[in-house]
Amino acid sequence: MQDSRNMNVLFIGDISARPGRESVKDVLSNIKQHYEVDFVIANCENAAGGRGVTRAILKELESYGVDFFTAGDHVWAQKQFHEDLYDLNLPIIRPLNYEGNAQIPGKGYKLIDLGDKRIFILSFLGQGFMREPVRSPFWVFDEWWNARVDEGILSDDKSSNPLIFIDFHAETTAEKLTFGWYVHSRVSAFFGTHTHVATADARLMGDMAYVTDVGMCGPYNASLWVNPSITTNNFMFPMKEPYKAELEGPRIFNSVLVTFEGKEAKSIKRIDKILQ
Ligand SMILES: [Fe+2]
Ligand SMILES: [Fe+2]
Repeated sequence: MQDSRNMNVLFIGDISARPGRESVKDVLSNIKQHYEVDFVIANCENAAGGRGVTRAILKELESYGVDFFTAGDHVWAQKQFHEDLYDLNLPIIRPLNYEGNAQIPGKGYKLIDLGDKRIFILSFLGQGFMREPVRSPFWVFDEWWNARVDEGILSDDKSSNPLIFIDFHAETTAEKLTFGWYVHSRVSAFFGTHTHVATADARLMGDMAYVTDVGMCGPYNASLWVNPSITTNNFMFPMKEPYKAELEGPRIFNSVLVTFEGKEAKSIKRIDKILQ
């Protein structure tokens, strides 16, 4: 940590299949050094061949310099990982607002103690155009907030709270912007994910950093992480082809860097790279 007041946090968009993991391997240590990054969070829901993640892949990505992981609707794709999610020492959360939250593996938020700072990381799924059985993130966030206030961990005085980061994994810009505005006076940074398409609206909402979608790390000549010939077929014909990760060609790395002074976000900037 560069000093007790300032903190630089990097959030990496959905790491997708081997090209996504390799892009992180190729650029992250330089970015961390250049921008004096203190903490790295990555969405890893597509890291295992495009769908889900495994314990071994988390280890691999940690070795490249990622400190903590969020996920999304694809986190259930690797069956063995359901069991792994019960291991609360794994540095990963899944969305908090599932129906039956207490009955499914894993946790939807985590409080991390960095010594001179504490960070809450939360994950929510959107409802628009999503097929997951989830409750409204607006109501679930308020319930979560009120429970932490009752525990004495949070208060209305942001300056005495831990930093709070949200990964909002959702399809529509409207739901993301609206949820951002809804929480901005209580939250420190808000990272949209899921579409795999980076948006150009990184900005401050008061003293919360916001971006509608961080984007992804993965194959550049692709739709999501998939060769466009497959997705074209699936848009044109009823005989669907299974998604297969595009392993060839250039890769894209999308991320945002947020700088905090104390509890206030002071800047957010995109750090994007195309790797040939
Ligand atoms: Fe994704
Ligand atoms: Fe997703």
